[in-house]
Amino acid sequence: MSQPLRLAVLISGNGSNLQSIIDAIESGRLNAEIKAVISNNRKAHGLLRATRHGLHTWVLDHREYQDRDHFDKLLQHYLEAIDPDFIVLAGFMRILGPGIVDAFENRILNIHPSLLPAYKGLNTHQRALDNGEQKHGVSIHLVTAKLDDGPVILQASYPIEAGDSAEDLQQKGHRLEHQMYPQVLRWLSDRNLVIEGGKLFYEQALLEEPIQFNA
Ligand code: GRF
Repeated sequence: MSQPLRLAVLISGNGSNLQSIIDAIESGRLNAEIKAVISNNRKAHGLLRATRHGLHTWVLDHREYQDRDHFDKLLQHYLEAIDPDFIVLAGFMRILGPGIVDAFENRILNIHPSLLPAYKGLNTHQRALDNGEQKHGVSIHLVTAKLDDGPVILQASYPIEAGDSAEDLQQKGHRLEHQMYPQVLRWLSDRNLVIEGGKLFYEQALLEEPIQFNA
């Protein structure tokens, strides 16, 4: 078997996506190793999940730094020391500075609760409801300098049903998310998916459209 994929997972909150990655690794479905779990919030429940599984954690609380630049530089130094194959943003509620995005070009992934390019930014579930959408979804994409804007690797959609609340949509999305991140990481670890020069190649062919996830 090839070397495990080396991951740094960045979180801010619950960490259920982190848990899905941990579970995939521990059950042998994903050949990867989480080198560190980093949180900008020391109260993030995901930190408990990480320590329960013996993972190395690090808290970098952005409120303790006067300026964004200082926070970004420390985070970048730390990530460079770990030198992960991929930085996995899993509910990390900070925008990564341009230095980090440059230093780890083609190596940063994010999961976003919408069918990108629709509904970039926050509160996507409520905004979709307010607009009377019939469906919503989840996207895993490569991170570039612009927010929620890099090429989309994998996308899943689900129907919005009458009476659904924002929390209902979030739950529907989470059920998909927990299968999707392990799937994308498995493709990367197996080299079915290769990212080069900001482009995605799936089974050696240029990926021009996101792959549609079938649960
Ligand atoms: C997920 O819904 C993800 O799409 C968004 O943040 C949320 C994180 O959830 N980026 P969790 O912390 O993994 O439970």
